Amino acid sequence: MLLRLLRSHLGPYRGKICAILLLQLVATIASLYLPSLNADIIDKGVARGDVGKIWSLGGLMLLVTLVQILCSIAAVYYGAQVAMGFGRDVRQSVFNKVGTFADREVGRFTPASLITRNTNDVTQVQTVVLMTFTLLVMAPIMCIGGIVMALREDAGLSWLLLVAVPVLLGALSLIVINMVPSFRKMQERLDNVNRVLREQITGIRVVRAFVREPQETQRFAVANDELTQVSLRVGRLMALMFPVVMLILNASSVAVLWFGGHRVDSGAIEVGSLTAFLSYLIQILMAVMMATFMSTMIPRAAVSAERIQEVLDTESSVRPPANPQPAPPARGVVQLQDVEFTYPGADDPVLSDINLTARPGGMTAIVGSTGAGKTTLLSLIPRLFDVTGGRVLLDGLDIREYDPAQLWERIGLIPQKAFLFTGTVASNLRYGNPDATDEELWRALEIAQAKDFVAEMPEGLNAPVAQGGSNVSGGQRQRLAIARALVKQAPVYLFDDSFSALDVATDARLRRALRPISAHATVIVVAQRVSTIVDADQIIVLENGRVVGTGTHDELLAGCATYVEIVQSQLTAEEAA
Ligand code: CTP
Ligand code: MG
Repeated sequence: MLLRLLRSHLGPYRGKICAILLLQLVATIASLYLPSLNADIIDKGVARGDVGKIWSLGGLMLLVTLVQILCSIAAVYYGAQVAMGFGRDVRQSVFNKVGTFADREVGRFTPASLITRNTNDVTQVQTVVLMTFTLLVMAPIMCIGGIVMALREDAGLSWLLLVAVPVLLGALSLIVINMVPSFRKMQERLDNVNRVLREQITGIRVVRAFVREPQETQRFAVANDELTQVSLRVGRLMALMFPVVMLILNASSVAVLWFGGHRVDSGAIEVGSLTAFLSYLIQILMAVMMATFMSTMIPRAAVSAERIQEVLDTESSVRPPANPQPAPPARGVVQLQDVEFTYPGADDPVLSDINLTARPGGMTAIVGSTGAGKTTLLSLIPRLFDVTGGRVLLDGLDIREYDPAQLWERIGLIPQKAFLFTGTVASNLRYGNPDATDEELWRALEIAQAKDFVAEMPEGLNAPVAQGGSNVSGGQRQRLAIARALVKQAPVYLFDDSFSALDVATDARLRRALRPISAHATVIVVAQRVSTIVDADQIIVLENGRVVGTGTHDELLAGCATYVEIVQSQLTAEEAA
C-alpha cells in the first residue's frame, strides 16, 4: 500500500529524487573517507613527527568535510521539497476524490475519519518520505561502506562486527515488532477523538440545553484516554530504544579498544588504524540504528497509506456514465418509472413502485407523514443516490446517462436542511451562477421573500454569512437557499420542505411569487402544510414509501383516505387554535 501510494504520487519528482540519491552518495562516501584520513594523520604524521604531512592531510580533511556538508545540505533541501510536494499532491488527490463521493461513501468513512485521513495520515507518510530522503538512503551505503573500510583497516578485528551488528539488529527488531500493532490502534483512536470532538462542537447548544456537559466531558475523556494509553505504550518502547543502542554501542567500543589494544601492543596494527576502526564501527552501528528507527516509522506510515489508499480506491456509488449521452433539449420533464430505493444496509425498500411525471408549467406537490420517504424521493432526481430499481428520466433520458454536470445544471435543489457557505450573501447566491448580476440577485431575493431582511442589513448583498449560515435565522437561511436556487435559473426546481420555517403569510406570498417561475419550469414541492399545496396542479400522497393517491386537492379529498386524514388533522389543529 505504502509503495503504491508512493509510486503513484512521487512520479513528478523523479529528477529531484535522482539528485538526492547522488548527493547522499557523495556525502556518505565523504564521511566514510574521514576516519581513514584521520588514521593517516596519526600514523604518518603524528607518529613520525611529520608536521608538513599533518597540514596537508588536515587540509584535505577540511575539504572533504566541506563537500560532505554541502552535499548533505543540498540533499536535505531537495528531500524537504519532495516530501512537502508529495504531501500536497496526496491531500489534493484525496480532496478531489472525496468531492466525487455520494452520501453513501461519506457515510461509510464518516466525515471525521475523512478529515484525519487527509491531515494526520498524510503527515505520517510525508514524514517517512522526508526521513527516507534525508537519512534512510544513506544508511545502507554507510553500513556497507563502513564494513569495507573497517576490514581494510584491520581484518583481524572484523569478528567484532559480526557480533555487534546482529546483536543491535536483534534488540531493535524486538522493540519494533512490539510497537507495530499499536500504530493502527493509534490512528483509529485519533479518528475517535476527532469524531467525539466534532460532534460535541456541532451539537454544543444541544449539549448545554440538556445539561449533558459532564457526560459529554466524560465521553471525550474516555476517547482521549484511550489514545493516550496507546501513545504511551509506543512512547515507552521508543524510550527503551535509545539506551539499548547506547549500551551496545559503548560495549562494542570497549571491546574494540580492549582487543585492538592488544593487537597494537603486539605490533599487528598501528594506533591510527585502531581509531579508524573504532570510527567505522560507530558509523556502522549508527547506520543500523537509523535503519531500524526508520523501520518503526514505516509500519505506521503503511497503516496511514492504507487508510489514504482506501479513500482513493473508493469509487463513488453514483458513477458518471462511461459515454454520456448528448443531453436532450432542456424542458424539465421529470419522470419516475417503477422506482424502488433501498438505503445501503437496510432490508426493506424505503420507496417502491413510484410512478410519477412532473411537467413544466405546473407545480407538483408531495405530501406524506414524516418518514414517508419524501426527501429520499427528491434526492433520487439529482442522483444524490441511485435508484435500486426502475428509472428516473429527465427530458426523456435516464439520468444515469447524463454527464453529471449537465444533469445538475438543470436542477435547482433547495435541501430540507439549508446550508450556506462562509462568505457573503452575494457569494452564496452566485454559487450556481457566478455571472449573475446584482439585479438578478435582488429579483431572486424578492421572489424568495428575502429582499426585506437583506436590504435591512447595512452591507446589503455583501453582508457576511458565517460557516453553515449560522448567523442568520432558520427561516432566513431557508429563504436565502431558495434565492440561491432561483439565481441558477434551472428548468427543474426541487423544494424539500422549504416552507416549513416560514410563517403562513410569508409562505403564501412566496408561493404567489413563484407562480411566474412555475409557468415555464417544473416545480416539485415537498410540504407538510396542506395550505401550502392546495392549489398545486398535481398532489402526490406518499405513505410508507408508496404512492397512495395522485390528483388535485379536490380529487384527492373525494378519493384518497390518507389525504383526507392529513387534511383533517391539520384542520382540527387550526380550528382548535
Ligand atoms: N432513512 C434511512 N437512511 C437515511 C435517511 C432515511 O434509512 N440516510 C429512512 C428513514 O428510516 C425513513 C425513510 O428512510 O423512515 C424515509 O426518510 P425521508 O425520505 O428522509 O423521510 P421524509 O418523508 O423526508 O421525512 P420528513 O418529513 O421528516 O423530512
Ligand atoms: Mg424530509
